[in-house]
Amino acid sequence: MKSDIVNDICGLFRIASVRAVAQAFAAELQMALQGQGSSLKILPSYLSRPSGREQGQFIAIDFGGTNVRVMKVSLLGRGGVEIVAQSSRPLADAANGYDLTSSASTGRELFNFVARLIEEVQPAQQDYALGLTFSYPMQQEAVDKAILLEWTKEIKTSQTVGQDIKKLLSSALKEHGLGHIVPTAIINDTVATFMAKAYAEAAVWVGSICGTGHNTCYLEPSRCTAAGQPMIVNTEAGNFALLNQNRYDQLLDCQSLDPGRQRLEKMVSGKYMGELFRLVVLDLVEGGLLAASFNDAVPMKQAYAISAEVLNWLSTDSGRQHQELRNWLDEQGFSGCRAADLDMLRMVAQAIMDRAAKLIAATYIAITDQIRHSPQQHIIAVDGSVFMKIPGFLEKVEMVVRQNREGLPTVVLRPASNGSNLGAAVAAAQACRFS
Ligand code: BGC
Repeated sequence: MKSDIVNDICGLFRIASVRAVAQAFAAELQMALQGQGSSLKILPSYLSRPSGREQGQFIAIDFGGTNVRVMKVSLLGRGGVEIVAQSSRPLADAANGYDLTSSASTGRELFNFVARLIEEVQPAQQDYALGLTFSYPMQQEAVDKAILLEWTKEIKTSQTVGQDIKKLLSSALKEHGLGHIVPTAIINDTVATFMAKAYAEAAVWVGSICGTGHNTCYLEPSRCTAAGQPMIVNTEAGNFALLNQNRYDQLLDCQSLDPGRQRLEKMVSGKYMGELFRLVVLDLVEGGLLAASFNDAVPMKQAYAISAEVLNWLSTDSGRQHQELRNWLDEQGFSGCRAADLDMLRMVAQAIMDRAAKLIAATYIAITDQIRHSPQQHIIAVDGSVFMKIPGFLEKVEMVVRQNREGLPTVVLRPASNGSNLGAAVAAAQACRFS
């Protein structure tokens, strides 16, 4: 009886047809390419696939959803990279009394924070080109001119939307006496992931992230850079909207900071999968399927308190993950969690992750179909905590893509670790060559 109810709940996360989702995504992509109303975008990056010969030392910043990471990176050519120095801080840290993601903080404060981190890796008065990976929707008029269209991933910093990101960063650099460091490329993290992997391997066609947020870029044959090369375009895939929402998706969406937006992202990314899981668990407690004492556990009282890491621990019932999960449950006050309860939690986590893998695969099927005329194998460069930390997730996405692309060039997913920083350095190098 209990298991029937849990099965029904898991059924709400089932995807009836991956191909139908892929077709809907392909149709939205065409609309975006034709400049017609679509939940997807074709945002130009002004960058093409790197040659692999880019060289020199650059400052590279990864400004993602959770942390800011600054690196001094040496590009050695032929795909070789060396991280010379690095520094990283969370955007919000309650213990140290700051939250740069809230509307009480301004864009100026945010970029002053970034400038202080740059000072840590590059105090000397030496000229540098800087690449900034800024992982939010931006409208670009040039590789170094990017206007923030909107915040996603529950960020609400004020006086930033509609602003020129390079100007905000450059003023902060000057305020900190770092005017000799010049931002030459501002890019999305999917583009950075693409650039980082393509620096070493020629067959990269797509770059994608599934971490705090989700998105995908690809090399679009009909868009060209000033040098006449196909351009990498950012689709803002996380906003794909032609999807059926179940009751948990609807609840999550209406409680989020941007209801109605980022529908796909809210089903697949680490930040939101953890929250979906939390909402289902609350419902299971409410329905008497899990002990009422579960509601006393700390994460049950706070939105977004369950991270993708917990889903990772739930993805297997053996080994280190199992122990980590047990420790977490004890620490967080899930008292009396029995083996049967754990099985239930695992089923829910699996259903959420399985749906995410299928939805992401559907979008890759549509995107690789758009570039099918290329005879080569297609490498999709991927990064982000969901791909990198949840065992089997990447393989599952790859398998679903392959099952649905018979007779077409093989698609392989390859992790690009540190992609956001390394890609920013490669982009800065490419931008310097053409400026
Ligand atoms: C942003 C994208 C970004 C993705 C992954 C989304 O919320 O809109 O621009 O690429 O997160 O970080």
